[in-house]
Amino acid sequence: MKFLRLLLILFVAPLFAQQGGMWVPSLLKGMNEAEMKNLGMKITAEDIYSVNKSSLKDAVPHFDGGCTAEVISPKGLILTNHHCGYDNIQSHSTVEHDYLTNGFWAYKMEEELPNKDLFVTFIVRIEDVTSKVTEGVASLATEAEKQKKIQENIATLNKTLPKESWQENQIKTFFDGNQYLLFVTETFRDVRLVGAPPSSIGKFGSDTDNWVWPRHTGDFSLFRIYADKNNRPAEYSKDNVPYTPKHFFPISLKGIQENDFTMVMGYPGRTQEYLPSFAVEQIVNELNPAKIEVRDAALKVQDGFMRKDNAIKIQYASKYASVANYWKKWIGETKGLKKSDALSIKQKFEKDLQTKIEKAGKQAEYGNILNEFKTNYANIREYALARDYFTEVVQRNTEILSFGFRLYQLEQVYNSKGEQAFNDRKNNAITTFEGLYKDFNANVDEKVFEQLINIYATKSPKQFLPSTLQNINATQLASDIFKNSKLTSYNGLKELLNGDAKSVIEKLNQDKGYALVKSISDVYIKNVFPRFEEMNLKNIALQRTYMKAILELSPKSARIFPDANSTLRITYGKVKGYKPADAVTYTPITYLDGVIEKYIPGDYEFDLPKKLVDLYNTKDYGRYADKNGKMPVAFIATNHTTGGNSGSPALDANGNLIGLNFDRVWEGTMSDIYYSPEICRNIMVDARYILFIVDKFAGAKNLVEEMKLILPSKK
Ligand code: ARG
Ligand code: ASP
Repeated sequence: MKFLRLLLILFVAPLFAQQGGMWVPSLLKGMNEAEMKNLGMKITAEDIYSVNKSSLKDAVPHFDGGCTAEVISPKGLILTNHHCGYDNIQSHSTVEHDYLTNGFWAYKMEEELPNKDLFVTFIVRIEDVTSKVTEGVASLATEAEKQKKIQENIATLNKTLPKESWQENQIKTFFDGNQYLLFVTETFRDVRLVGAPPSSIGKFGSDTDNWVWPRHTGDFSLFRIYADKNNRPAEYSKDNVPYTPKHFFPISLKGIQENDFTMVMGYPGRTQEYLPSFAVEQIVNELNPAKIEVRDAALKVQDGFMRKDNAIKIQYASKYASVANYWKKWIGETKGLKKSDALSIKQKFEKDLQTKIEKAGKQAEYGNILNEFKTNYANIREYALARDYFTEVVQRNTEILSFGFRLYQLEQVYNSKGEQAFNDRKNNAITTFEGLYKDFNANVDEKVFEQLINIYATKSPKQFLPSTLQNINATQLASDIFKNSKLTSYNGLKELLNGDAKSVIEKLNQDKGYALVKSISDVYIKNVFPRFEEMNLKNIALQRTYMKAILELSPKSARIFPDANSTLRITYGKVKGYKPADAVTYTPITYLDGVIEKYIPGDYEFDLPKKLVDLYNTKDYGRYADKNGKMPVAFIATNHTTGGNSGSPALDANGNLIGLNFDRVWEGTMSDIYYSPEICRNIMVDARYILFIVDKFAGAKNLVEEMKLILPSKK
């Protein structure tokens, strides 16, 4: 047994070690290209990113600034997730045309639906501009001055660096301020909705299955990019024409198996892989548990109401999903960090680094970083905790408090900028509030308030508690506020905001709800926020030096990748199952059979369209079934992804599309802080399931015809 383990460590570990990381596509030559080929890739780094010829990167735009999409036809057809296109699908939906419930398909281009404000951004080229950005910075004395100078340099360079008139320059920092890269981009603003399956397919499993493997969601939607007659970006016009891409992905129907090479290109938003152990310890033991407790309480209350009352379910479904998404992620993350012993791994890494610093004679520059981190994280602890409680309780999860906080900011605007600014902002606020109150139910929020204010009063650091929250009876306070405050209805709010600035502010301050929010916010804004910012700035500066030390003192072969920052990255690995718990093994592919197993007629998470059940019963899968006649639905692999990678193309060894990324497995959500190839997996919809839905379920042959399909060779 011992021998076997040793063998495993010796042979499996180095192989696994080639996985993980989100790499910059223009910097793959060398180590990454060698690893990718070793894992089975058949194409070259130049095929993925090239400035001279078309390459894969030309088919991968950032979708609406938050998700990823990929071009899958010569006519600018793009694929992304259902949850990424959700708002647009929703905005076209009415009671008569409920596209969220029933799906939407354009059978002709004229039927495609324009979307105000939706945009996609392509990358034209990437260049290193570090020396330009850091010019004149080193000689400055304070961190604040340095940051200011860097921001000035970036602003100037964005304006002056060469680009075409229809392009943009965007400079982003990598490795916490140790490298700056310029992205020259093209943004298209005429993007039309082409197709979306019913939510019972596109959101199948909803919150229960969110972050979960085995998964059975057909999380995709289709859009099309339109350009002007010169194929350049243009605002919406009926005269625009379908965009001709420099590259589009052929779609492979050949199928996948465990251990196949895969890679994912996309725009991961934010990771923190190089946090020191002190920070990770705080996240695991204090910050995540605090945030989870608050959301747990809020979600339980809302769920109770939603299950009993259909109108409330409709009002709260989308809010609930968004709060539940990160609640569930943090629980998985915390468990995963503990189980993988990320803390000890970080501590050992730090000890080794300290030794290297001493060996290299770099004590003067780096010798004290870890000590400073330790002190600084100890000092920031209470402030960070207070900040999270404030954010979660006041700004995010108790609606009446979040409304009050918006008004509090309005009063601040009056104090700092005067009547005119106040009125502008007030008018905007009234419009925003109309939308917020539409989905507000005072009975639900009173119960949320009662739970959350109690957590705030008993769990958040005592020294930042206003007198209004000392020794409270939460039930009494809740009923008092909800009986007396005008913030409990839109009409009440409008009454409060009616009049000139002076009288509005007077009325606000007499309102019990507002007065409570103000007392909490005053303490936060005066005693927590500035100190937090000050120490956070120190941590940012330390992190930059720490990262510099890591880059400088690690061996050439070390796999050091920059944290995600919403720029284009590539990650690669293998299709692979995992072991989530003792005696449990998950295989890497799910099938339509599993969708049917989960089917609960009439349920709001697990219902299915009749047509899909019929297609299953008759096994009418056409050319999309696998070689055993089964319909694949989703699969997992060791690609290192995060929020923002939703909608990313999953590609095979030849750069053909085999799937669409949309999630990660729950046990591996810690990958934002510590990636472990043993348990971190990304989840993708199989391209064959997407085509089956488009073709067989929706009958949108027009769309399949414009794609390039790669069929399995007949034996
Ligand atoms: N967990 C996925 C990602 O973070 C999907 C979220 C959308 N789905 C949902 N049921 N809320 O964002
Ligand atoms: N579901 C995430 C997204 O929307 C992807 C992830 O966090 O893995 O980007």
